[in-house]
Amino acid sequence: MAADIVIRGGQVVSADAVFEADVAIEGGKIVAVGDAPGAKTTIDASGKYVIPGAIDSHVHFRTPGYEYKEDWQSGTGAAARGGVTTVLEMPNTRPPTGTLEALKMKQDIAARQAYVDYGIYGLLDEHNLDALEALIDAGVSGFKCFMGNTFGDLPAPSDGAMLEGFEILARRGMRCTVHAENASIMARRQARLEAAGRSDPLAHLASRPEVCAIEAVSRAVVFAEWTGGRLHIAHKSSKDALYVLRDAKRRGVDVTVETCPQYLLLSTRDHERLGNALRVNPPIREPGHQEPLWRALREGVVDMIATDHAPHLPEEKARASVWQCDCGFPGVETQMPLMLTEVNRGRMSISDYVRWACVNPAKAWGFFPNKGVIQPGADADLVVVDARREWTLDQSQLFSKSKISPWHGRRVQGAPVMTLVRGKVVMEDGRIVAEPGWGKPAKQKMPAPAPRNVDKTTAAITAVRETLRKVG
Ligand code: DOR
Ligand code: ZN
Repeated sequence: MAADIVIRGGQVVSADAVFEADVAIEGGKIVAVGDAPGAKTTIDASGKYVIPGAIDSHVHFRTPGYEYKEDWQSGTGAAARGGVTTVLEMPNTRPPTGTLEALKMKQDIAARQAYVDYGIYGLLDEHNLDALEALIDAGVSGFKCFMGNTFGDLPAPSDGAMLEGFEILARRGMRCTVHAENASIMARRQARLEAAGRSDPLAHLASRPEVCAIEAVSRAVVFAEWTGGRLHIAHKSSKDALYVLRDAKRRGVDVTVETCPQYLLLSTRDHERLGNALRVNPPIREPGHQEPLWRALREGVVDMIATDHAPHLPEEKARASVWQCDCGFPGVETQMPLMLTEVNRGRMSISDYVRWACVNPAKAWGFFPNKGVIQPGADADLVVVDARREWTLDQSQLFSKSKISPWHGRRVQGAPVMTLVRGKVVMEDGRIVAEPGWGKPAKQKMPAPAPRNVDKTTAAITAVRETLRKVG
């Protein structure tokens, strides 16, 4: 019997090996790796790698609410161009994804506009703890807790609310991503810097020193360990809190960690060239943080590469005072070429890349082995990679609405040349060739919940009071 598609002659990449094999696809699934049957359509991948689609656990697609910055069509199109076949989208939209109504609104938009598969984050904040269970039942893939303030100005929840939220999520086995920076230290320092007349690019870095991250990462780990909750540390930018995470992992805390290309490859030296446009939370730090982050990836203390794709208009990033500039920049489209360049430079292997960009995020978010791996039974989320192609990143060519990138003008070697999502070619030679709406919510199966200290949760202690009241 003929398969729908066979990708022939490519070098198939797993986290442990690279081997020549054909990949056969039927009904959107991989059905054979190795000797493939005949096919209705053949894709020639000779001289190229075939890798699982990248899974980006951190993107902001801005819709609903800030459609002029990005929407789900431009955002997921950018993802497909970047070889990313699944994204997890953040809740700092307008309205924020902290209620069932807001989630439904976003789900409808995503269903109509997405080119690639997706998960949607629910918000965990001070006032929506009674909505968390409903958000889970309605299909969020995880939660986001903004411990430190960033775009959208969502105030950090109190420790009391955060712990109670973690108790609820631990009972349901859901992972909570934290923006781990201490809000009150940053607010105070920013006010002091502004009062002192500082509004230069490095003032932003001065307002958010590493101690903000060390403290917030530590606090989040304490809450996750106490509740048995699953934790994910977003955009690890500095070497400093790595010891906290290394120890937590040794103790068996279920914490996963992402870093981003901007923290692996840029430093304050790039501020001289890029000025306020480089403003991002957490900030790009001094030289000396990059090498320890690479080492932490190799050791498994940092699990994965995400992008914090944070689109804004160029004019929103070019204001004279750093405090007036929006934070972040697009990244979902440029991550793969940047990292392939590091593969070509010998800083990592192509299997390392697949481990950090595909396998580990799939495992952390309960998508594995349906996604993140090339084997029979998995979704045919595949990227054909030309690892030799040399080219220059150009912000005007981005599919994202945000035509401003710190990577503009950077020479790279390596490019995703074809992206398939569940067996459908979505991107070919940089062109989007599928219809919006092809992307679907990624099917998730998290491991069984493992809550701890359940007799001391807010639910437990208030239930005791209820019982006493009823008995009395
Ligand atoms: O710089 C950032 N921008 N960091 C974040 O964590 C959020 C993001 C945004 O939404 O713009
Ligand atoms: Zn973010």
